[in-house]
Amino acid sequence: MQNYKNLCRLLAKYYVCTLLMFCYRVKTYNQRQQLAPVLDNLRSLGKRIGFVPTMGALHMGHISLVDKALKQNDVVVVSIFVNPTQFNNEEDLKKYPRTLDRDVKMLGEKGENIILYVPSVEDLYGNNVVSGHFAFDGLERQMEGRFRPGHFDGVGTVVSRFFEIVKPGKAYFGKKDFQQLRIIETMVKNLKLPIKIIGCEIHREKDGLAMSSRNERLKPNYRDAAPFIFKTLKAAKKRFGTESAYKVTEWVRDQFAGHELLKLEYFVIADEETLQPVARKSRSKSYRAFIAVFADDIRLIDNIALN
Ligand code: PAJ
Repeated sequence: MQNYKNLCRLLAKYYVCTLLMFCYRVKTYNQRQQLAPVLDNLRSLGKRIGFVPTMGALHMGHISLVDKALKQNDVVVVSIFVNPTQFNNEEDLKKYPRTLDRDVKMLGEKGENIILYVPSVEDLYGNNVVSGHFAFDGLERQMEGRFRPGHFDGVGTVVSRFFEIVKPGKAYFGKKDFQQLRIIETMVKNLKLPIKIIGCEIHREKDGLAMSSRNERLKPNYRDAAPFIFKTLKAAKKRFGTESAYKVTEWVRDQFAGHELLKLEYFVIADEETLQPVARKSRSKSYRAFIAVFADDIRLIDNIALN
């Protein structure tokens, strides 16, 4: 009887392990030489290849991009690579969350049409870990570009390298990093790359905080304070209906001036197309408010469409 029970337990364990292995199975490549021929083969079979570049520590914001890509393509390549050349702060790079096992499980649950590419620094950069220089029609000089010098050169370098390797038909970027999305659209246009860039809506926590890998690092009191960012953006949007950009900006600065935990780095109302700060409102243009805030040493960004 005891032997029978043990056998049952063993079989149950085996069944659960097999099930987990099946659920979490995701084809993973670490080297471009191995990935490229697999993708060439899929392309020759007429498969549509979508691409979602990420730096890992995946959350539902990333997964919403993957879901959209899965709907529009036969195969979706997801990259996980914490790109050193886009960090202008060594400490930020060092502390960036890395949760590969968990990421693999999350992607495994999405089905078998996902290919994961987790390159090493050498695989992408060889032994020359530097950025190229890019001009993105001046978009790179605004907001994140002003406060994170070199950041968009790093993003342009790594994304263009990924595009060369993956050669996707469509690539997916979140509006959470709206300036990055506009910059990639401009890069694709200027380099005449045959890739369609798909912008995806911002995924938020229930309390409004934009999902971000960096949120994991927030201490509880800063995490509790952080929804104030989106709350202020929503109030700014309401004000923008009747007030000038200047007045709204002053109002937002006042809100943060008295805040104990959150330090405003910038708040800018800009033209969605050019990302130039708005001087005078025009009915024919679309505007967006952009914000960067420090919660302790963690930098959070967010934005909202205003009209
Ligand atoms: P990462 O911050 O990991 O983001 C990967 C993609 O997920 C980006 O397109 C980003 O805009 C999107 N994303 C992040 N949070 C989101 C949210 N809450 N809602 C919707 N989309 C969200 O952005 C990067 O990595 C890197 O710069 C990269 C493009 C991978 C180049 O290294």
